[in-house]
Amino acid sequence: MYSTLTTELSTGIFIITINRPDKLNALNKVVIEELSLAIEEIYTRSEIKSAIITGSGQKAFVAGADINEFLALNAAGGKALAQKGQDILFTKIEKSPKPIVAAVNGFALGGGCELAMACHFRLCSDTAKFGQPEVNLGLIPGYGGTQRLTQLIGKGRATELLLTGNMIDANTALQYGLVNYVVPQDELLNKTRSLLDIINTKAPLAITAVIKAVNAVFDETKNGFDVEINEFGKCFGTADMKEGATAFLEKRKANFIGK
Ligand code: COA
Repeated sequence: MYSTLTTELSTGIFIITINRPDKLNALNKVVIEELSLAIEEIYTRSEIKSAIITGSGQKAFVAGADINEFLALNAAGGKALAQKGQDILFTKIEKSPKPIVAAVNGFALGGGCELAMACHFRLCSDTAKFGQPEVNLGLIPGYGGTQRLTQLIGKGRATELLLTGNMIDANTALQYGLVNYVVPQDELLNKTRSLLDIINTKAPLAITAVIKAVNAVFDETKNGFDVEINEFGKCFGTADMKEGATAFLEKRKANFIGK
């Protein structure tokens, strides 16, 4: 049981809803720790095939890290906050063996934009707004924002957003490639679920291999082409590859077991 999140699981899709609507779902210490535990559930529970992260209420996905916690921190404390958050949550989302998708239902600012960007891809409502307003507070992003925003939308656009602190609307986010779809707010979860329903019919080990290989593009310690070759090879050792190829040749639907 979580105090700042609600979770539900149906048809293999685990929906995590950040539930502090009166504070626009801002990420305080408890939210970060509970999100980390919820992500751990995705890693470990076999009945979960994929997940959605969204925010409660109509207004915000997440309006940032909780600014109330900032004034007590010195330089070492700030560094530790960023390090811990990246370790227990943001990197953990990115490296999840199962897809985690952000359904951005409103403001995604600061840590909220960073949370969405740590997910494997993003959809948003037509009311969503994205931004990295940390410079307004004398700060920069600490949960991967300077890196992932640049990876996702390119250096020029990312630097402009990071330096101005300006927000962009949903259609600009779509044009920039920050989100894959913009939909009316009341269709956001259904649209997100419909994509995960497709993904959940595929071979789970192949899904994990795709995530690993794509992540390798942005990991300077790895050669992504080598990661792809290795993962491709490993797929040939799976029962699901035999089933997928056999099912195709027998003109029937594959029944994958994740082995
Ligand atoms: N941390 C802590 N509290 C936050 C918060 C944050 N990041 N973002 C919003 N809140 C709180 C507000 O303090 C307010 O609480 P209160 O009712 O107890 O006063 C409540 O959420 C509602 O926010 P409010 O500012 O009244 O809503 P608004 O519609 O006027 O403005 C925003 C919405 C998102 C533009 C505005 O809340 C905002 O700029 N938030 C901070 C964004 C930010 O800088 N994030 C990066 C942090 S590193």
